[in-house]
This record gives sequence, C-alpha cells and structure tokens, in this order.
Amino acid sequence: MIKITEALTLEHRLLLTVFEQVEKLLPEIETAEEVTRLARLVEGLLGDHADTEDNLVYITLDHALEHQGKLKQLHHEHHEINRFFKAAASAKRLSEARHLLEKALQASRDHFTSEERLVFPVIENVLQNETLAEMGDAWAQKQKAS
Ligand SMILES: [Fe+2]
Ligand SMILES: [Fe+2]
Repeated sequence: MIKITEALTLEHRLLLTVFEQVEKLLPEIETAEEVTRLARLVEGLLGDHADTEDNLVYITLDHALEHQGKLKQLHHEHHEINRFFKAAASAKRLSEARHLLEKALQASRDHFTSEERLVFPVIENVLQNETLAEMGDAWAQKQKAS
C-alpha cells in the first residue's frame, strides 16, 4: 500500500534525477533547438505529475478551506513553471534558451520542496488514510499499465 503523497514524493526523486542529467547535458548543447527538445521532454514528464496533484488539491480543498492559500499556491506554481518551460522551448538564442531552462528546473526544484514541506502534510492531515491509499493504488495501477 502506498499513499498518493508518498507516490508523488517518489516521483519528485525521479524527476530530480532527470533534472540533474539535463543540467549535465546543457553545457554541451550547441543549438537552441536541442534546448527546445529537452524543455519539451521535461515539461511532458512534469505534466502528468502536476495533473495528479491538481486533482488531489481539488479534492482536499473541499475539506480544508483554512488552507486555501497554500493549496491554491500549488496550482499557481504549476502555471508559472509551465510558463518557464514554454519560454525555454521558444527562445531563439542558445544562451537565452539555456538560461531559461535552468531557471525552469530550479523553479521546479523549489516547488517540489515546498510541496513536500507545506502542502503534502496538509493533504495527509485532511484526507483520510483510506482515501490516500485508494489514490495511491490507482497511481500504482497506472504505472503498471504504462
Ligand atoms: Fe507540483
Ligand atoms: Fe510535485
């Protein structure tokens, strides 16, 4: 049995490893187009993860109006991060594209930290263990299917 919040934390670990690899590649990259491809790749990996979180926050909000600020902040940060990746993917100059992608990766890292420290604990307090486990189960099934 895995709680959905634990599953999402595991995904953070995995995504952080991808970020590290991307950052290692960045100095060797010679064209803005290659940065675009990398930015789209990471953006794609983050997409499903963020959708699961948005859904989870939506469910939690119903029971935790006092935490509205923190929960809505998560959603807002998803938008911001998306904007950073899109900007990196559309930059025409290599140095700019590279800089924007680094910024997007750093914003994602900070976002993961704040989710783990501030948001997931709220979700775990508000939702019942059963609900968290059911969602974790659905997550695990999806992993098997893909
Ligand atoms: Fe997130
Ligand atoms: Fe996350």
